[in-house]
Amino acid sequence: MKRWFGFTVQFLVVFLIITGFFISCKQGSKQVETTIQPTPTTSDSIEVKIAALMAKMTLEEKIGQMNQYNGFWDATGPAPSEKKAKLKYAHLRKGLVGAVLNVTGVDKVRKLQEIVVNESRLGIPLLFGFDVIHGYKTITPIPLAEAASWDLPLIEQSARVAAIEASAVGINWTFAPMVDITRDARWGRVMEGAGEDTYLGSKIAVARVKGFQGSDLSAPNTIAACAKHFAGYGFSEAGKDYNTVDVGTSTLYNIIFPPFKAVADSGVATFMNSFNIINGIPSTANKFLQRDILKDKWKYKGFVVSDWGSGLEMIDHGFAKDLKQVAELSANAGSDMDMESYAYVTHLKELVESGKVEMKVIDEAVRRILRLKFELGLFDDPYRYCNLKNEKEQIYHPDHLAFALTMAKSSIVLLKNTNQLLPLNKNQQRIAVIGPLADDKSSPLGNWRLAADDNNAVTAIEGIRKFSSTISYAKGVNLVIGKTSFPEEVKINETDSSGISEAVALAKQSEVVIMVLGEHGLQSGEGRSRSKLDLPGLQQQLLEAVYAVNKNIVLVLMNGRPLALTWADEHIPAIVEAWQPGIQSGNAIAQVLFGEYNPSGKLPMTFPRTVGQVPIYYNHFSTGRPGPKKEVFWSHYIDEVNEPLYPFGFGLSYTNFAYSNLKIDAANATLIKADLTIKNTGQFAGEEVVQLYIRTKTGTVVRPIKELKGFSKVELQPGASKTVSFILTNEELGYYNNDGNFIVEPCEYEVMVGSSSKDIRLKEKFQIDK
Ligand code: NOJ
Repeated sequence: MKRWFGFTVQFLVVFLIITGFFISCKQGSKQVETTIQPTPTTSDSIEVKIAALMAKMTLEEKIGQMNQYNGFWDATGPAPSEKKAKLKYAHLRKGLVGAVLNVTGVDKVRKLQEIVVNESRLGIPLLFGFDVIHGYKTITPIPLAEAASWDLPLIEQSARVAAIEASAVGINWTFAPMVDITRDARWGRVMEGAGEDTYLGSKIAVARVKGFQGSDLSAPNTIAACAKHFAGYGFSEAGKDYNTVDVGTSTLYNIIFPPFKAVADSGVATFMNSFNIINGIPSTANKFLQRDILKDKWKYKGFVVSDWGSGLEMIDHGFAKDLKQVAELSANAGSDMDMESYAYVTHLKELVESGKVEMKVIDEAVRRILRLKFELGLFDDPYRYCNLKNEKEQIYHPDHLAFALTMAKSSIVLLKNTNQLLPLNKNQQRIAVIGPLADDKSSPLGNWRLAADDNNAVTAIEGIRKFSSTISYAKGVNLVIGKTSFPEEVKINETDSSGISEAVALAKQSEVVIMVLGEHGLQSGEGRSRSKLDLPGLQQQLLEAVYAVNKNIVLVLMNGRPLALTWADEHIPAIVEAWQPGIQSGNAIAQVLFGEYNPSGKLPMTFPRTVGQVPIYYNHFSTGRPGPKKEVFWSHYIDEVNEPLYPFGFGLSYTNFAYSNLKIDAANATLIKADLTIKNTGQFAGEEVVQLYIRTKTGTVVRPIKELKGFSKVELQPGASKTVSFILTNEELGYYNNDGNFIVEPCEYEVMVGSSSKDIRLKEKFQIDK
């Protein structure tokens, strides 16, 4: 029996440490109190241990480390056949598997780990990966929603909570965060990222990695993170998932790369490549991305895992002729671990023997993979994440549930509030609640909730009932037909409108109508691109029918992507973007509607007026014909305005904020200071996200009309004011030119500060000399 340490003693130490762990998440507070206690380390450096271990490994065993298998059921990909399950067990016993995914729960993880540790020749422990994307059991808002909070400590805390629950069930590696920037709301996976902006996206990516990994990967309640999908996946043509990506140097270096670089610099443990081809080369076999940029230029020390079967998909791309060539191309290009393609485990040995893949390629990949296993402390105790008592205690811990509410409230964006219809008075109105999503306990959990117990979200109606006893509910229409499941298409109700009359009758006798409409939680996510951005099914019809009898409508939206809601914006007095807020959905929504929480979210992605405007994003370039002009010869549509419905960075509050006194100190060109005053001029305490944008109007390369380069979320009591300060260094001022070099232009810079990318309140200029 191979053991790396005396198991019993280690187990006791780990257990004692785990029981001493705590997190404190005070409701409504942004304080992050997290205690992560390091486990004892031995004196030998990890590199020495890796070398010693590798000296004992056969070529086959090394290749085994580069092989990742799915567990034995159909979770996030095609189900393995019975024969494959047998093969997988055989490979586990032979030490031919380095990692698995979708195996969770202390019992199951322990069982599999025992097979490998006790039965394989060297007993090298497995990594256990899982898509912990927005919570493990305690489901928090979808990542796009969390991004709308612009609250980095909260976002970090959300990942921390997810890591604590995931590590308690045996998981030591999450396939998150997704740091793909995207400008196309049709793409289903916008729900999984931080939206369209590279600056905000980079800050959020780093916060998420910090939350998952903590400051010590070897602590048993931290897990390895994975930056995905490297690279360009968010730029799939026409927003269609898995589609072609073709981008120029400027977009690649200035928009796509920065969040990846930021997390590589901040120590993210792993990277995942992507399904797409980018500029003609599949990411999985892309040497430029994985070797030249990531490993050479950025000096990244972690490993790259392929996406699920992305190697195999290169045959369909028309890039590799067979599985053997898949293995050759992927390994040589720097894809270190193969997820479910069977390419490495089947062909790498013969490829090394025939000289098609050099031994140093294998050694380098294995070194990277083993390094993470050592860093996680798996060689000290392969069962360090397998503590039944901890599993019981951490799942749905009251602190996690309280935090999920804080996070959900902070993610909500107030889009419209004519005549201060909101907040509603408690118990004073006859309230009608209408809409299929108002009593849905599943959909608000969003898409990536593989481990969630279904139907455990607090519904909007349950939340609203806590504030008002005078409410009545009518569904109006069904959104979906039949059961929904993660791998299957959602069937939308397009025909049965029989419930509309009941909803209309109810609306007629009510003072105010809260309508909860939007997308089903499984209408966004992987494989769920849409060609329309409207309210799906018969919901628009329902909305208009209710509006015809009662105009006093508060529209609460639940959706996984920006929607084109031009009619609603023109007619409905109050609109609240709640996204898919997770387990505490209804409580968060109700607290916002009744003014117990003043909404503070800002859109991380532009909402178009019509799907034809997509891709639409704030930091575009100016054409040579910006217009408007009397004649048609300017850059516009003949049937729609250029402006979006709601711009990036937009979100209202129950209070108002006044901006004044912007001062720039540019005496030191590498440390420009910008100060301004912000004052709460309304009646409610509230938070404002102060946003700073810059623009250059001349230079060697044309720059966007505006780029976010700083933001600060400020909390103010009514009448109170604060000075907000920003620092602009070369990092903020510079950009990558078309040779991929980072430069700072000597020229005039315009600084714009405001409440959204459109609502600029203050402007100043400064000069950087040659
Ligand atoms: C495919 C997805 O693209 C990726 O993001 C995910 O991590 C893997 N499946 C594993 O589930």
